[in-house]
Amino acid sequence: RLPTITLNTGATTPQLGFGVFALDDEATARAVEAAIASGYRSIDTAAVYLNERGVGLGIRRSGIPRAELFVTTKLWNTHHLTAGEEAGHSLDRLGLDYVDLYLVHWPVSSAGTHLRAWDGLEEVRRSGAARSIGVSNFSREQVDEVIALGGTVPSVNQIELHPLHSQPELRAFHAERGIATQAWSPLGRGLALGTPEIGSIARELGVTEAQAILRWHLQLGTIPLPKSASADRIRENIDILGFELDATDMATIDALTIGRRVDESYYEWA
Ligand code: A2P
Repeated sequence: RLPTITLNTGATTPQLGFGVFALDDEATARAVEAAIASGYRSIDTAAVYLNERGVGLGIRRSGIPRAELFVTTKLWNTHHLTAGEEAGHSLDRLGLDYVDLYLVHWPVSSAGTHLRAWDGLEEVRRSGAARSIGVSNFSREQVDEVIALGGTVPSVNQIELHPLHSQPELRAFHAERGIATQAWSPLGRGLALGTPEIGSIARELGVTEAQAILRWHLQLGTIPLPKSASADRIRENIDILGFELDATDMATIDALTIGRRVDESYYEWA
């Protein structure tokens, strides 16, 4: 069974989730159904992915009871001041009456609205529409601004994290604050797969490079959210419990970080 992480709300989440970025509704529904059939119980979407309907459809097709799933969605940047309404729209599209986790997708510090978005998320949590709330792509300083508001401490900061950008300082900061680290693009959107060091570790262990990287995430304590549209790779990415990386392998992958982001243009928001 997949390990779980306990959030600061007391809720638990599987330590691996399924990402659906850049899949349309029908592809999302198929992928989510395949993921649930392969044992995933956590699904990560966002309003801006325009596939929350597909996630809902995949969940209903899977036949798995809602209570066994951990569903995350995110508030888009242009709606920071109307979080309550937006959460309602997301729930309608998902066909759910709550999400397990609702995140502020990006800080948008130029407009400074991310702090007002946080007030809205606290209200969303009080209303029961989200069981836990958190942020995404926030820096240490931005997380501390949220904490300084004096209300709810975010349960999660979901950040870009993979072997070429493994964010050791931000991870250590999260640990100090009791915030869980979710990793988007945990495979570096494929960029990390061709690394010779990872190739040799994978060959030695008789696993694929993607499996070696996802195992590295589990042992680091992050929550990776790999995306795949292929049923075979969806299965491959959750089949990571039967082997372990030793300390040398972990250190080898840790040493690959060069601050390489999958797409610099995303960060124009932040
Ligand atoms: P595909 O959807 O065709 O499987 P990330 O989650 O880091 O953003 O990576 C997603 C990218 O990596 C997608 O292009 C996905 O393609 C590919 N991918 C996902 N799982 C694997 C895997 N096990 N092996 C190779 N490529 C993978």
